Amino acid sequence: MAENKDNRKGFTLWFTGLPCSGKSAVADRVAEILRGRGRRVERLDGDIVRQDLTRDLGFSKEDRDENIRRVTFVAKLLTRNGVAVLTSFISPYREVRARSRREIGNFIEVYAKCALEECIRRDVKGMYQKAIRGEIKEFTGISDPYEEPENPEILLQTDKETIEESVAIVLKKLEELGYL
Ligand code: ADX
Repeated sequence: MAENKDNRKGFTLWFTGLPCSGKSAVADRVAEILRGRGRRVERLDGDIVRQDLTRDLGFSKEDRDENIRRVTFVAKLLTRNGVAVLTSFISPYREVRARSRREIGNFIEVYAKCALEECIRRDVKGMYQKAIRGEIKEFTGISDPYEEPENPEILLQTDKETIEESVAIVLKKLEELGYL
């Protein structure tokens, strides 16, 4: 097997934001670019992780916190092994994100800020409409809270920027922080 000569410092880019705010779209594109630059990259995305590692969990506060706790454990292991980790979870609770930050260490919080009206307009999976009709309970933004980050390292305004503009903001910050 070829020796892996990538000795660069690992980090976790922690994307947080409302459903349909664009977390995954921006994270996917950044991941693609980092891979193209020869980085070892892992993506941890809510919709995928919840089909496997956390498939036993729902959307109560306790379950969301447990979801994030498990993901944080994985992100920590990868980060300390030099991987560029990109997570995309609503992760609605400030205190829980703060705990992930403490656990992981090289943690960069990325807030995908998007007006609720725009998220509802996008409604990629039709879930907002179901939540508005009361068919889905505890839906973030409609019937469940989202605590905005107060001091994220990166603030994206995904209702005003194109994906490529948001991606450029993320890459610039990674360079400034010495991760690239
Ligand atoms: S988190 O709150 O625990 O961080 P996570 O990001 O893993 O959430 O999962 C969010 C995804 O689950 C959404 O993209 C959506 O497709 C789906 N989902 C299903 N029910 C809900 C709900 N009640 N609130 C938010 N998302 C939900």
